[in-house]
Amino acid sequence: MTAPVPAPTPIAPHEDDTMSSSTAITNIAALVTNDPSLGDGSPLGLIQDAAVVIEGDRVTWTGESSKAPATDNRVDAGGRAVLPGFVDSHSHLVFAGDRTQEFNARMSGRAYSAGGIRTTVAATRAASDAELAANLTHYLAEALRQGTTTFETKSGYGLTVEDEARALRIAAEHTDEVTYLGAHIVSPDYADDPAAYVALVTGEMLDACAPHARWIDVFCEKGAFDGDQARAILTAGKAKGLHPRIHANQLSYGPGVQLAVELDAASADHCTHLTDADVDALASGDTVATLLPGAEFSTRAEWPDARRLLDAGVTVALSTDCNPGSSFTSSMPFCIALGVRDMGMTPDEAVWSATAGGAAALRRTDIGRLAPGARADLTLLDAPSHVHLAYRPGVPLVSGVWRSGVQVV
Ligand code: NIG
Ligand code: FE
Repeated sequence: MTAPVPAPTPIAPHEDDTMSSSTAITNIAALVTNDPSLGDGSPLGLIQDAAVVIEGDRVTWTGESSKAPATDNRVDAGGRAVLPGFVDSHSHLVFAGDRTQEFNARMSGRAYSAGGIRTTVAATRAASDAELAANLTHYLAEALRQGTTTFETKSGYGLTVEDEARALRIAAEHTDEVTYLGAHIVSPDYADDPAAYVALVTGEMLDACAPHARWIDVFCEKGAFDGDQARAILTAGKAKGLHPRIHANQLSYGPGVQLAVELDAASADHCTHLTDADVDALASGDTVATLLPGAEFSTRAEWPDARRLLDAGVTVALSTDCNPGSSFTSSMPFCIALGVRDMGMTPDEAVWSATAGGAAALRRTDIGRLAPGARADLTLLDAPSHVHLAYRPGVPLVSGVWRSGVQVV
C-alpha cells in the first residue's frame, strides 16, 4: 500500500520578476524528467527524492533534493510527484455550440460519422469572434487546471475563407501550435462539387490561413477526403510553408497513415485501424502516432492498439482531441488512464506519451521534459508517484502547475 501523501505545504505566490529570481522545488518523491541520462536511466529519467530548480522560464538544475543548490525561493513539494506539463498535441477548440443530443443518441446505439461536424460548423459560423474566443479560453483554463501547459488547436469548423482565417487568428492569440484544417469535411456549400472545395482549400483559403498557422491537417476518411485529395491538400500547404499532420485511419482502414509517413508529417493522428504495412511505415519514419482515446471512449469505438505500435518501435503520443463531437474531454490524465487500462500501455509509457510524446508530435525539444535548458513547465500531483495518474482514474490529482517558470495553478 502506498503511504498517504502529506498535506501540501502552502506555496508562496510567484514572484513578478521571475526572470531574475531562482526557485527550487524540493522534497519531490518522484520527478519525471523524460531525460534517460538522468535518475534511473529509464525513458522517464525518474529521480527519487528530487529537486528541480527554475530560473526565469527555464529549468536550470535537476537532481537529488539534498544536493539542490541555493536559490532565492524554495517550495516544499511535501513528498509529492512532479512531471513535465502535459503536451496536448491535438485539439479542436475554436468552435461554438454543443452536441449533447448527438452524444446521447450515440450512447443509445447510433453510430458516429464525420457528418456531425456540420452541426458545429453551423454554430461556429453564427458565433461572434468574442464568443469563439471566450469558449476557447474557457476550455484552455480547464485544461491548464488539469496540467496541460502546451496545446495545439485547429480550425475546421468554419469552412469558408473568412471563417477559417478568423478561427486561426483567434487560436494564434493563445498558442504557437496552430493548425489549418480547412479540409475537415467538404463544406456543405460545396456538397455537389468536392473538387471545387479542394481547389478553395488549396487556393484562396490557404493563402488567407497560412500566415496564421504552423501546421496543415486533413481528415483523410470515408465521408471526408480520400488519399489523393489529402495528398494534394498537404502538398499545397507544404509549398506555403505549413508542415503536415493528418487525421488518419480513425473510422476505417485507409491511406492516411502511409501518406503521413510519405510526406514526413509530424504526426498521424487516431491510428485506430492499422494494417501491418501501416505499422511498418510508422516504424520506418519520423511520424509520431498520436492516439486519441477520448474519441474511442466517446464514440464507443474499438481502442487503438498502443502496445502493437510501441512493440514495433513507433513513437506514440497521447492527446485529447478535445472537440464537441467525438471527444469532449480536455483531460490528459483521463487519456493516460484509458491508455493504460484499454490500450496496453504501462503507466510509464502513457505518461511519457502525454508529455515527451506530445512534444515529439509537435517537433519540439524545449517542452515535454524537465532537464537543464527545458522550458519550466511542471505539473505537481497530489500523489507520491506519476503512476497514480492511471491508478487513481478520475481523481483530480493535479495540485500545482508552472508554465514558463510562473506558477499558474
Ligand atoms: O478528430 N475526425 C475528425 N475530427 C474530429 C471530430 C470532429 C467532430 O466530430 O466534430 C476528431 O475526432
Ligand atoms: Fe481531431
